[in-house]
Amino acid sequence: MGMTFRKFRLEDYDRVMELWQLCGLPLKPRGRDSREEISRQLEKPQVIFLVAEAEDRIVGTVLATHDGRKGWINRLAVDPAYRRKGLAQMLVRLAEEELEKAGLKMFAALIEEDNQASIRLFEKLGYEFHPEIKYFTRKKSSDV
Ligand SMILES: CC(C)(COP(=O)(O)OP(=O)(O)OC[C@H]1O[C@@H](n2cnc3c(N)ncnc32)[C@H](O)[C@@H]1OP(=O)(O)O)[C@@H](O)C(=O)NCCC(=O)NCCS
Repeated sequence: MGMTFRKFRLEDYDRVMELWQLCGLPLKPRGRDSREEISRQLEKPQVIFLVAEAEDRIVGTVLATHDGRKGWINRLAVDPAYRRKGLAQMLVRLAEEELEKAGLKMFAALIEEDNQASIRLFEKLGYEFHPEIKYFTRKKSSDV
């Protein structure tokens, strides 16, 4: 399987949205996943957006971010036809390497409790589970 890993480019946008849809990720097309927002996020040095490409298709993504203290693994997605080949593991490790270059030594991911594939994946990658943590958010609008 000829697989290339590279940084996301804005011309990948439509293909990445299709992949995220196919993977069932919650999309915010009028909010933080809009083309304009993604383009704005890419300008920030603390946003690391990687894609995996095979046979001229985008088959995997990871969008890592950091807040100066922790690195966050977001938008991890692998095309169903390419799953269970270690691709997500590879994407997470590459994202961690990029975060480390930016000085981060701690990585984290938020996972929905019924997402067994992701839970197993992060366990395998050595992430510690924190059942004591409750996740709170506040949104300025339902689109974001
Ligand atoms: C979760 C996801 C990214 C995994 O991608 P992947 O490339 O298939 O994962 P990998 O091949 O790197 O798997 C590594 C390990 O994770 C675990 N794992 C992955 N998928 C699994 C599944 N369906 N069931 C149980 N364990 C699973 C296994 O331990 C696996 O190792 P193994 O194959 O040696 O048993 C993919 O299923 C996906 O895109 N899901 C939908 C989107 C999503 O939920 N993203 C994460 C949001 S936090």
